[in-house]
Amino acid sequence: MTDYKKVKLLKFKIHGDSRGGLIALEEYNDIPFNIKRVYYIFDTKDNVIRGKHAHKSLEQVLICVHGRCKVLLDDGIERKTVTLDRPDKGLYISNAIWREMFDFTDGAVLLVLASKLYDESDYIRQYDEFLKFIQKR
Ligand code: TYD
Repeated sequence: MTDYKKVKLLKFKIHGDSRGGLIALEEYNDIPFNIKRVYYIFDTKDNVIRGKHAHKSLEQVLICVHGRCKVLLDDGIERKTVTLDRPDKGLYISNAIWREMFDFTDGAVLLVLASKLYDESDYIRQYDEFLKFIQKR
């Protein structure tokens, strides 16, 4: 990626003991923004590609808390794919990054922490509009 600050892998501390694991996420300490919204994607059918959009201002952290999925990231110049396969691995995605989530394993649960409430007007759902948006900036 050209701008490394736009996308970042995060490693969370596991509070593990003989009973199993626990991960706690706090805004600003573990997550680099104020957490305004949480949602999760589950029961994803075979060959489905989710996302396929960018955001004008929203920041998010994606965590595959169960199973595995892949995330394609595109800053308009370069594309890369990240695999999320551990509950202690987070993917920070800033605004103005096109993302597609795919290759979900059976039973995968993708947890998303977001910096703002849901706002459809923050979405850029057409790839050509995304390219125009980043060129204007
Ligand atoms: P959608 O944007 O298609 O999900 P994705 O792009 O991540 O694959 O969202 C599916 C539906 O859920 C759509 O009708 C909007 C709604 N939705 C909310 O109401 N609140 C939310 O926080 C999100 C992410 C989606």
